[in-house]
Amino acid sequence: MNIAGRTLIRISVFLLTASILFGCDRQKNKRGYDFIPDMVYSRAYETYSKNPNFKDSVTMRVPVNGTVPIGFTPFHYTIDSLSRVKAGKELVNPFLPTDEVLSRGKIIFTTFCIGCHGILGKGDGQLYSSGLYPLKPRDISAAPTAKLMDGQIYHTITLGFGSMMPHGAQIRPEDRWKLVLYVRMLQKQALMARDTIPAVKVK
Ligand code: HEC
Repeated sequence: MNIAGRTLIRISVFLLTASILFGCDRQKNKRGYDFIPDMVYSRAYETYSKNPNFKDSVTMRVPVNGTVPIGFTPFHYTIDSLSRVKAGKELVNPFLPTDEVLSRGKIIFTTFCIGCHGILGKGDGQLYSSGLYPLKPRDISAAPTAKLMDGQIYHTITLGFGSMMPHGAQIRPEDRWKLVLYVRMLQKQALMARDTIPAVKVK
């Protein structure tokens, strides 16, 4: 074997021994010596640690104004009635009243609305009829609610209306639209029921 070959073997043996010596440690939970650590240790600041790069020393920064979280749909309306009319003109229901949409709407209505507005939306829910809730909920199965635009009902569910509390934080946007279609169905049902009742009772 020539000199170069022997030198290569010596270097390899040295590197192997060095890596065993430096790499292993009695403390098994520690990594030992790092050869070219590069990105092993993060230079980032801990979320709640002091940060010398900012005047206020706070590491966790407030998001830039107007930041929208992923999956969040902003709602650019206010609680007043003018804004509700505006929502009625601008917002379009992205769903059609298919069986699937209506059965989802029914689940949401049964969970969140039935207690006050009642099974048929007549404003006679258990909370009100039992006297636990003192304010008369609207009959949302007939006018004037039936004359509202979809966007106005959506606005009402999202931000509340008069004494009714908002439900925007509890119900997802797509479920709110499905709920609007379910309310529409209740209105149709109420209309049909009214039309089938004879105007004059025959004795
Ligand atoms: C805690 C009782 C309560 C619950 C729960 C409730 N509402 Fe109401 N809702 C009311 C009351 C009371 C009013 C009338 C408010 C007023 O006139 O000040 C009202 C009004 C409304 C109106 C406005 C009607 C109009 O003609 O402007 C709509 C639409 C409506 N509710 C739909 C719903 C839907 C859909 C849900 C389910 C997400 C719901 N409400 C849940 C009590 C409730």
